[in-house]
Amino acid sequence: MASQYDNYNTGHQVYGSGGQYYNDSSAGFITPGPQRRKKQTSNWIKIGIPVLVLLIAGGVVGAILATRKKGTSSSASVASGGKTEAGRFATATNSEYMIPIYPSTTNTAAFSAPTFVSNAAVAWPSDSFAPSTPSVLTVRPDRPRLIAPAYKWAALPNLISKDPYLAGWNTTIFLNASQYYDLPPVVYFMDGDSGILDNAREVKMRIKAMSYAYRMTNDTKWADRVWAELQNAAGNGSIPFGPDVDKWNSPHFLDTAEFSAAFGIAYDWLYDTWSPDQKSKIISTMIKYGLEPGIQAYTNASVFTGWWKSTGTDGNWNCVCNSGLTMASLAILGDDTSGHASQLLGLTVDNAKLNCAQAVSDDGTWAETANYWYFGTTGHAEMASSLLSATGSDYGLMKVNPNFYKTGDFHMYIAGATSLFNYGDHGPNKFSTTANALIFYANYYNQPQYGLFQRDQYDSAEPWSMFWYDPTIAGAFWNGKPLDHFFDNSVDQWASMRSSWTDNSALYVAIKAGQNLHHQTHNDLDVGDFVLDALGTRWAGELGSADYRSPNYFSSDVQAADRWKYYRKMTEGQNTILINKANQNVNAAPTVKHDTSNTTQGSSTVLKVDQDSTAYFTTDMTSAYFDATSVKRGIRLLNGRKQVLLQDEITAAQSVMWRMHTNATVSIDGTTATLALDGQTMKVTMLNPPNGATFSQSAAKRFDTDVAPPVPDQDNPGVTVLIISLPAGTYNLQVLFNPQWPGDVSYVTPPSVALDQWSLRSHDGSA
Ligand SMILES: *[C@@H]1O[C@H](CO)[C@@H](O)[C@H](O)[C@H]1NC(C)=O
Ligand SMILES: *[C@@H]1O[C@H](CO)[C@@H](O)[C@H](O)[C@H]1NC(C)=O
Ligand SMILES: *[C@@H]1O[C@H](CO)[C@@H](O)[C@H](O)[C@H]1NC(C)=O
Ligand SMILES: *[C@@H]1O[C@H](CO)[C@@H](O)[C@H](O)[C@H]1NC(C)=O
Ligand SMILES: *[C@@H]1O[C@H](CO)[C@@H](O)[C@H](O)[C@H]1NC(C)=O
Ligand SMILES: *[C@@H]1O[C@H](CO)[C@@H](O)[C@H](O)[C@H]1NC(C)=O
Ligand SMILES: *[C@@H]1O[C@H](CO)[C@@H](O)[C@H](O)[C@H]1NC(C)=O
Repeated sequence: MASQYDNYNTGHQVYGSGGQYYNDSSAGFITPGPQRRKKQTSNWIKIGIPVLVLLIAGGVVGAILATRKKGTSSSASVASGGKTEAGRFATATNSEYMIPIYPSTTNTAAFSAPTFVSNAAVAWPSDSFAPSTPSVLTVRPDRPRLIAPAYKWAALPNLISKDPYLAGWNTTIFLNASQYYDLPPVVYFMDGDSGILDNAREVKMRIKAMSYAYRMTNDTKWADRVWAELQNAAGNGSIPFGPDVDKWNSPHFLDTAEFSAAFGIAYDWLYDTWSPDQKSKIISTMIKYGLEPGIQAYTNASVFTGWWKSTGTDGNWNCVCNSGLTMASLAILGDDTSGHASQLLGLTVDNAKLNCAQAVSDDGTWAETANYWYFGTTGHAEMASSLLSATGSDYGLMKVNPNFYKTGDFHMYIAGATSLFNYGDHGPNKFSTTANALIFYANYYNQPQYGLFQRDQYDSAEPWSMFWYDPTIAGAFWNGKPLDHFFDNSVDQWASMRSSWTDNSALYVAIKAGQNLHHQTHNDLDVGDFVLDALGTRWAGELGSADYRSPNYFSSDVQAADRWKYYRKMTEGQNTILINKANQNVNAAPTVKHDTSNTTQGSSTVLKVDQDSTAYFTTDMTSAYFDATSVKRGIRLLNGRKQVLLQDEITAAQSVMWRMHTNATVSIDGTTATLALDGQTMKVTMLNPPNGATFSQSAAKRFDTDVAPPVPDQDNPGVTVLIISLPAGTYNLQVLFNPQWPGDVSYVTPPSVALDQWSLRSHDGSA
């Protein structure tokens, strides 16, 4: 039988490109893949859509969300003045995509501009531990040290009683903790190259929630249940947990780091309840399976488990690994007699500043993918927050990269009207990973809109939020937020354009150019790729990760790499132009041009943009192609952001194919395609079609003539490719997307304008 380590024999080769691993064929996995998610009723809807009332009290208008009780739709509590009664804004989450639903109201006073107000009644007390010369080896005198110091626990019940977000999260965390309480401890599952990362993150998620429940109740049943989880993950439970020599799987060091963090949280948050014997057992397990492998990773040149610490490894691995080791070390510093904790603290902080903190480019983009942003920022925020609470400083981790703060905008703009612009790999299951770093960044970087955006998201209810959230935050994230944003770093180059921030059926278009290298081998060959949302569903979408266990999936991103033989990673698996049925050039270096009417949303959740409100993005992506002398693509919003024009100007010496992947049912009539999805309709029409151009469709699978990948592709059930296929030649392809909006909407047919002549006003006339 092949050993789990067989694939590690090539050392850095396997991991040098920084993959995290998941297996989307295993039972029980929640995959972001292309399977159509079954419509599920959101939990908020199940428990009764709360009544949202708007009322004026004490001079402040608040949108108050009713207390949510099973089977009732109770009336709202009444605001009595002051910011804390501003209420929860979202009334529910969308059942298909789990995104917040905001009430339709033009009430402007309810949704003021994002800010932090001065209101002592809901402010956190200040920390009495404020060393004048902080040191990573000098920790606060009291417990907990990590993220949630004692003074915050003491203040929390009062803040919960005054802030509807804290109150809602507290309730959910208790519900979650109760679910975990009733489950058996996490069962060890070595998932090939994906390691035991799911196990580690699930243990961490449970420990956070149950430790929170313990500290909020002093009920020892929670501490006992946490202890059972620790015993299990130490291999001392009733069922085996991995090989004695390396239970936390150090060759896949993410696993080691996440277990270390989990044990550190348990040790620290429940410090006062552990007996001396329990403490020494937790410490010995952390040393053996976490900190000792951490020291080896850092100091022993003959092990490869520390590849992630190398300069230039500026992806999620560096953040997660350094954060886990740092949290664990801070938790046991002083009680650890081995010296490992202090040694590691001398290494991790500087390393994370050089690598983790550099994973955000100067425009705010996380260079891996939209989903890997979650892992990277969770690690970064946990590490910085733990250092701050335990020692009084983050040692520059937050600001060493002066553009790090912009990564909140990366996340907000890459979040579409239905879901992320989820190009490239989607990453493993998230469990303890969330977007709640935004709540931490909101305060630290004084960007309140980040926290206001995240607090209504379904993943906001978890223990970190309870301590990162500052209840003096006020206003609506959308108030003053531009609808469009362009990310211009040459590695990324992408655009985000929408018709509203608060309407689930809004139009959303995102498109990327950028380079095909420098994404920690998590990208696709996808210059020109786009997604399109409208009418509450996604019309042009992504296929996501291929199987992370496929041979050589992460090992190389050179032109001939095996990675580029998997359909989901190949150019033909993207929503872009394909020339000669061949992959794009990995050395692509496109140029871009773009403009926007700068339309911003105001306080109202009901946004009707002006007729001339628009945005466009064009790219010269010739360098991405072989066998073509010119390939340019542009996309723009038309008719007050109700229609979209996608235009391609191509001169190619080989065959040309326009491709778009959709979950819709497609009916074709020559140069018009009608897409039906989720009870909605999208008309797609070619304008000025070149001779012989018609739409066709196919399944989302490789051409028979393609080079076979090392193992067969995954299927893409339910996905259809809409295609325009043409021989070599010079073409101007203009494809107009008309979502069939309800009501009496008049559609425009825009004039034909060369991409180089596009401007904000170039399409105002009609054909
Ligand atoms: C937190 O939620 C639990 C469970 O619903 C509840 O018993 C407790 O009173 C809440 N805490 C506060 C401070 O409201
Ligand atoms: C936490 O509880 C909420 C409310 O019951 C539920 O919707 C959510 O799925 C739970 N989260 C986890 C991670 O179990
Ligand atoms: C739990 O015990 C601690 C320490 O004795 C005390 O400060 C805290 O108020 C108690 N909390 C509850 C909810 O009883
Ligand atoms: C588990 O058992 C081993 C071997 O007896 C012991 O060294 C370790 O401290 C124990 N750890 C925990 C968390 O129980
Ligand atoms: C370094 O790693 C090698 C290979 O695992 C091991 O044999 C050696 O003992 C380690 N050296 C130290 C100083 O720990
Ligand atoms: C199909 O729907 C799933 C689930 O919403 C989504 O993850 C996927 O990206 C969609 N695929 C396409 C091609 O739109
Ligand atoms: C949009 O804002 C940018 C940056 O402030 C400015 O350069 C540009 O002229 C504005 N465009 C319009 C149409 O207002």
